[in-house]
Amino acid sequence: MSIIKACIFDLDGVIVDTAVYHYKAWKRLANEMGFDLTVEQNEKLKGVSRTRSLELILQWGGITKTPEEQEVLAAKKNDWYVDMISHMTPDEILPGAKEFVIACRVAGLKTALGSASKNSGTILEKVGIVGLFDAVIDGNKVSKPKPDPEVFLAAAAELNIAPGNCVVFEDAIAGVEAAKNGGMKAVGIGSPDVLGEADLVVSGLNDMSLAKLYML
Ligand code: BG6
Ligand code: MG
Repeated sequence: MSIIKACIFDLDGVIVDTAVYHYKAWKRLANEMGFDLTVEQNEKLKGVSRTRSLELILQWGGITKTPEEQEVLAAKKNDWYVDMISHMTPDEILPGAKEFVIACRVAGLKTALGSASKNSGTILEKVGIVGLFDAVIDGNKVSKPKPDPEVFLAAAAELNIAPGNCVVFEDAIAGVEAAKNGGMKAVGIGSPDVLGEADLVVSGLNDMSLAKLYML
């Protein structure tokens, strides 16, 4: 009998690929301030909160801003980002993601979303998967960024499942660490070189199965 009773999914990079939109918006902001943002730098922003992302970008550009100015800049970036995600369609769900979440539900497992994003509601609605999760915990409900386990522990609590019976699906190193810090199993989505701390690494949810889940 498997100990797995719930699956908690990160959103960006696991269910949908919004990194490209985050990148476009941050790059536009950096360009306005007179410097560029590389794809490699964008990689370092995956799973990182909006506030912390801006701090890193300003650091890379060698620019100092007051907390008030930073708030204005973060809001500006978010306006551009929200404009882009408001045009998302169900086609942008990553391959196999919807099918795997449904398979978990059919198997009687609870499902939750555990994301740092404050825009998860818009994204779920635009890609048409609002009803797929028994609980949605996002950046509006928690304040401690991954690798703090707060977001995943809140999801487990809302599902009424003990952390030890939960598996987290994550594409970010900090997210895998957050799952482990919360006493949960972690499945990394991406490359084993990057996500080595995870209990299992798959290239995407299209490479995941209930058989692999029950072996964790
Ligand atoms: C994470 C993304 O899921 O959410 C980060 O990987 C992003 O890139 C963070 O900064 C916060 O998202 P948002 O939508 O609240 O700015
Ligand atoms: Mg992610």
